[in-house]
Amino acid sequence: MSNPSILILPGDGIGPEVMAEVRKIIDWFGAKRDLAFDVSEDLVGGAAYDKHGVPLADETMAKAQEVDAVLLGAVGGPKYDVLDFSVKPERGLLRLRKEMDLFANLRPAQCFDALADFSSLKKDVVAGLDIMIVRELTSGVYFGEPRGIFNEGNERVGINTQRYTESEIERVARAAFELAMRRNKKLCSMEKANVMESGILWREVVTRVGQDYPEVELSHMYADNGAMQLVRAPKQFDVIVTDNLFGDILSDCAAMLTGSLGMLPSASLGAPMENGRPKAMYEPVHGSAPDIAGQGKANPIACILSFAMALRYSFDQGDEATRLETAIEKVLADGVRTADLMGPEGGVPVSTSEMGDKIVAALDASL
Ligand code: IPM
Ligand code: MG
Repeated sequence: MSNPSILILPGDGIGPEVMAEVRKIIDWFGAKRDLAFDVSEDLVGGAAYDKHGVPLADETMAKAQEVDAVLLGAVGGPKYDVLDFSVKPERGLLRLRKEMDLFANLRPAQCFDALADFSSLKKDVVAGLDIMIVRELTSGVYFGEPRGIFNEGNERVGINTQRYTESEIERVARAAFELAMRRNKKLCSMEKANVMESGILWREVVTRVGQDYPEVELSHMYADNGAMQLVRAPKQFDVIVTDNLFGDILSDCAAMLTGSLGMLPSASLGAPMENGRPKAMYEPVHGSAPDIAGQGKANPIACILSFAMALRYSFDQGDEATRLETAIEKVLADGVRTADLMGPEGGVPVSTSEMGDKIVAALDASL
């Protein structure tokens, strides 16, 4: 049997730097755990625009459809702000999500013990926090029609449409219930059923799907209250399921609770392929951070943890994923810190690539 395949799309800004560290980790698993992958690499975002005039070439899209998992770094940068909307770096990312039909976006927000002081919230509010946001990723206002900027009388009007079909809600709800079953059997669904019909339907469908999961304690919350509760008492949540736009906002909020955006991975999953693996793309939650790109300052952990999610969700290697996550915790507990993690209590300052090396060393020590 051939090795499982991975397409790496480093993208822009710090993307290539953090991805270089992921490659060290992938190589380690090949050399030391007999888990070899066929890795190929291609362009996305501004990097693809510079070469092809589009943020994702058709050949790259086709490759992404064929591999077992895509790992993406980050896209965008000030250099591309002037581009037409249709070729902006973000469009490359959105095309991947849409054409691969990656409808379930898993965004864990986990507070690492060693970093609890970094949260803007009091330590006891966030210490031990471990929640999972499941964001619908291929529909809603991001993709609904009609959309555009139109002339209306003597002025223009900007239009986007929030649109959800029952089947779109159902499949992401099912993904969230399945996750809840594997975690603490607690799911909170967030929408604005008080003002939006799409929210009314969302609540109805999620409730209906819940009948198949009687063990899961399901609750519903208006998304604005959800934002407040996330900041007030985040530990009341375990799994949260919500739509594309609310999920975008709420996941940034949840991410910041944990103290560092440089730590958070994500998985975007679609339907199972012929080989049983889900269509999947893994990416850090952080952006391309152009202000620190190329300086060796970036924290590669979010991207490395994204590979851990790939091990767990695409390659059925939950134990190896845990090994990698534990190695990262160990390195943090030893005080090893990239610049974004350096607080008043100090620590061992390291560059992006030194952090990768430390994690590889911790993996070696785990054997
Ligand atoms: C995210 C980002 C993207 C989004 C952008 C880059 C298009 O904010 O993944 O959360 O809005 O979905
Ligand atoms: Mg976002």
